[in-house]
Amino acid sequence: MSTPRIVRAAIIGCGSYGAEHAKFLSTAPGVRLRAVADIAPERAEDFAKKYGADYATSDVGRIWADREIDAVWICTQHHTHAPLAEEAAAAGKNFFLEKPLALTLADCDRIVAAVERSGVIAASGFKLRFFPAVVAAKQFITRPQLTTAHVIDDHWPSEFWANDPVQGGGNVLSQGCHMVDTVLHLHEPPPVRVYAAGGNRNHPTRDIVDTAAITVTFADGAVANVAVGDVGVPPHASKFALQTSDGSRSLSLYNRLNSLMTRADKTITEHPAWPEEGAAVIDAPFIAAVASGGVSPVTVQSARRTSAVVLAAIESIKTGRVIDLSAAPYAAAITG
Ligand SMILES: NC(=O)c1ccc[n+]([C@@H]2O[C@H](COP(=O)([O-])OP(=O)(O)OC[C@H]3O[C@@H](n4cnc5c(N)ncnc54)[C@H](O)[C@@H]3O)[C@@H](O)[C@H]2O)c1
Repeated sequence: MSTPRIVRAAIIGCGSYGAEHAKFLSTAPGVRLRAVADIAPERAEDFAKKYGADYATSDVGRIWADREIDAVWICTQHHTHAPLAEEAAAAGKNFFLEKPLALTLADCDRIVAAVERSGVIAASGFKLRFFPAVVAAKQFITRPQLTTAHVIDDHWPSEFWANDPVQGGGNVLSQGCHMVDTVLHLHEPPPVRVYAAGGNRNHPTRDIVDTAAITVTFADGAVANVAVGDVGVPPHASKFALQTSDGSRSLSLYNRLNSLMTRADKTITEHPAWPEEGAAVIDAPFIAAVASGGVSPVTVQSARRTSAVVLAAIESIKTGRVIDLSAAPYAAAITG
């Protein structure tokens, strides 16, 4: 694959998060928004006009065949992630795939296999890893011992596609993955065991898990709790928050992980809040990787590991058992 200086981009999925990427891709230096695609043609046309793409299409085959596209942003419902990623890789297109990687381990494996076969640069949308406060937190505590974290949102309508068991998977798979990913990012030793409680509290018409209290044990004995639910945003800590300690130092991330307080030698430091930058925070390193032929900033293998932990938590909720991540079917995703 050639390494272009100007990255020629396409977006598949002209919905709400596609718009976040479009805002950045249409204005960032070193990027040209070549095409936008959606199964709803009018949505693609509106995007092309609003963000200045060269063309709009409802035929994704046109994107795969276009030799003037270097990288494709896939921003569609979760059940389409694996087939679209496979098509992108087969066409030799680098791709950025929104989170979660997929809703099943089998689909995650399909995506990883397609990337490994083709050699394209592929990234998954775990943007929280790049928030400046999270970067500073990871530098401040390199070996966490005990972490508590949550992603707690306001109520999601049951009809929302993300609550559809096939298209979205429900709140824990769809959004809980963000905080599980951040916890796995901060704890470097691999996760070895998961136990979780929860279930479906607020969406009786949907076969999903919407609420979870997840406990993860790591290979070094460190433990983390992650709470997930669409039960009402906590007013002080905010929708996304995390606290961790290493035995002497500690920190709190809050304000949607844009604010950081650190504590060392009993001295508390409140760092000035960083502004939330939207998709730019992850698009920029992915574009840099494509432009230089470098390594993906969020590998699909690491995103598969995150999905494996969330799926293990859901299995634990359903069976009441502790799930051993060093055994099948999870082991390959944890070590791969
Ligand atoms: N990283 C984040 O913080 C974040 C935030 C919100 C959403 N997301 C993710 O972004 C993705 C999209 O979510 P959204 O909220 O933008 O959804 P959305 O419903 O607003 O938009 C999805 C669009 O994809 C189109 N689409 C569906 N299947 C398609 C196909 N096969 N080919 C072409 N177009 C197709 C739909 O018509 C729709 O316009 C999901 O993976 C979601 O989890 C990420």
